[in-house]
Amino acid sequence: MEHARINIAIDGHSSSGKSTMAKSLAKELNFVYIDTGAMYRAAALFCIKERLIDGNEIDERRIPTAIERMYISFKYNAKTEQSEIHLGGANVETEIRSMEVARRVSLVAAVPEIRHKLVNMQRRMASSGGVVMDGRDIGTVVMPKAQLKFFITAEVEIRAKRRFEELLRKGVETTLGEVLTNIIERDRIDTTRAVAPLRQAKDSIVIDNSNITLDEQFDFLLSHARKVMAVQ
Ligand code: DC
Repeated sequence: MEHARINIAIDGHSSSGKSTMAKSLAKELNFVYIDTGAMYRAAALFCIKERLIDGNEIDERRIPTAIERMYISFKYNAKTEQSEIHLGGANVETEIRSMEVARRVSLVAAVPEIRHKLVNMQRRMASSGGVVMDGRDIGTVVMPKAQLKFFITAEVEIRAKRRFEELLRKGVETTLGEVLTNIIERDRIDTTRAVAPLRQAKDSIVIDNSNITLDEQFDFLLSHARKVMAVQ
């Protein structure tokens, strides 16, 4: 029974490499990968475009009506072999990775109505199993009954350096200092917000990847997944 279609939750800090692990695991197991961070980023892009954000303030009064017009979906791109995120029908996969969105996303992700809408979508996507979902509240709120949960972290300077190098490769203009400040701020908001703050689910397996290679980490995750799948 190697292919029991369990659900796997991967939570953790910003830029801890969750998505890389989640993507590889989904590919190896032939499961569906769902990037919930991309959904919150698309929601942030929506709020920017709709001018719902002014400085560090979000217009919470207009949110309930506005988000009725917020259409977020994933579409598979055969060329990149990945599911790409769409907002109102347009592919925003690149736009959601900009620093402007990164600066605003934690603010938007703290709004209860936005979380409610996205969590409902995420639960629907996971309802038939066979999903690897990564985010901040997956093991605690979205899929509390997931058969396997991981919590991934690394020292903040190491996360900032990795993220900075990734942005450089993508041609995004920024500095290590700016990336570090952004990650520290996102950690602060993500862990202290009132609704669904980032925290470890009691039954999650914690991985600090500061000093291990991607391969070592992947083997660790995969061996746990195979063990759990074998007893389902
Ligand atoms: O994983 P990421 O960095 O792309 O996530 C972007 C932001 O979205 C992050 O600052 C926190 C928020 N987020 C969240 O609140 N809940 C999730 N399940 C996923 C992401």
